[in-house]
Amino acid sequence: MRFHIQTWGCQMNDHDGEKLSGLLSAEGFEAVDSVEEAELVLLNTCSIREKAVHKVYSELGRLREEKLRRPLVVGVTGCLAQQEQAALFKRAPHIDLVLGTMALRQLPRLVAEVQAGRARVMDTTEYPDNHLFPPAVTRRRDTAKALVTITEGCNHACTYCIVPTTRGTERHRPYGDVLAEVRGLVARGYREVELLGQNVNSYAGGCTFADLLERVSEVEGLEWLRFTTSHPMNFTRELARVLVTNPKVVPFLHLPLQSGSDRVLKRMLREYTVAEYLERLGYLGEARTRMTLSTDFIVGFPGETDEDFADTLRVLEDVAFDGSFSFIYSPRPGTPALRLRDDLPMGVKSERLRQLQLRQAELTQASNTRFLGRVIPVRIETHGPTEHGWWLARSAEWKTIHLSVGPGRDLPFGELVPARITLASPHFLGAEPA
Ligand code: 5AD
Ligand code: SF4
Repeated sequence: MRFHIQTWGCQMNDHDGEKLSGLLSAEGFEAVDSVEEAELVLLNTCSIREKAVHKVYSELGRLREEKLRRPLVVGVTGCLAQQEQAALFKRAPHIDLVLGTMALRQLPRLVAEVQAGRARVMDTTEYPDNHLFPPAVTRRRDTAKALVTITEGCNHACTYCIVPTTRGTERHRPYGDVLAEVRGLVARGYREVELLGQNVNSYAGGCTFADLLERVSEVEGLEWLRFTTSHPMNFTRELARVLVTNPKVVPFLHLPLQSGSDRVLKRMLREYTVAEYLERLGYLGEARTRMTLSTDFIVGFPGETDEDFADTLRVLEDVAFDGSFSFIYSPRPGTPALRLRDDLPMGVKSERLRQLQLRQAELTQASNTRFLGRVIPVRIETHGPTEHGWWLARSAEWKTIHLSVGPGRDLPFGELVPARITLASPHFLGAEPA
């Protein structure tokens, strides 16, 4: 059977796609690049915002048409599957299987049941050992950086967020398992690893997260170590120390702030004030200036006033984030924020988002400009030049690099090469091999 997996959402979901792909490959199924070639299509979904859900339903609509023309098995996995469960079959009766985020290993069984003629099979059980997925099964996409799960689930309860529902409470992989996986990856040629969790900072698989970083960094042959994502309240001094002193841990931190107003943060149940967030950044000391810092913002949260938003812009300015992801608040089913009065016109929300993103673009441009003229190591992320003629690479700070290389010259995929930065735009750095 030929299968195709379409994945939306975060790195965790990306990595789940790699695990699902591995499970099917182990059954002798063949991965193909498009829906058209596939007999089994899995939509590995995200439900963080309504827009993400819309994309899934629109793809499901397309698959219904496809299914009228030929035999096709349609499965839904990921966060929307966990959230909607059997309701998905009502909304889209042509779905054959629904697999929850904590039941990945049940995929082959569900597919076999569909093949045996059973209609509408589902498993959304919260298996307590989902995070112990055997790494040997994972079938990784062709990327220079390998993703490694360290924790699944989240014990915080931000009032806007669907993730505690879709990913459950925290489960941690024992550090020995993490180390064994990283050693295996390095032996296969990977030089960069990203540790994944809905909240890596609260890691408790036999040591602290700071310890885990130190231990993983000792794996010989590993060059760069990164992690995502972090909750400010679990960002410890010890972790900041490792981030600043360990040469393999990249000088990059993504620390979601969400809002610059204490009133809003309180209603979001973020568990910190702006002052406390800034105190955490202060743990980085003067090393902060050598690092790249990014964050997430939600604008238009219920009850956000002009003053609240002005506070957010002020913090953006004061911290001068190198980059940020910002979104208009999207009401999610079953979340506590649904009960808050949300009477701000959409026009106001969009305007706030526009302002924030405009200012961020300028700050990012300034951040990128600081790299001009420098020679830095960058990791080659493509096997050849893109259609525009440059190679894609990434710096340790997670800057996107467009490398212009003379004709006839090949760069080594996945390896570090020195690059001289010649151009700074808000979205990428232009460079040439130094
Ligand atoms: N609406 C808008 N943005 C959201 N995020 C999470 N939930 C919502 C929501 N309901 C954003 C947060 C989070 C990022 C991954 O997505 O900023 O950090
Ligand atoms: Fe989307 Fe959040 Fe699920 Fe990731 S964990 S796929 S961002 S809803």
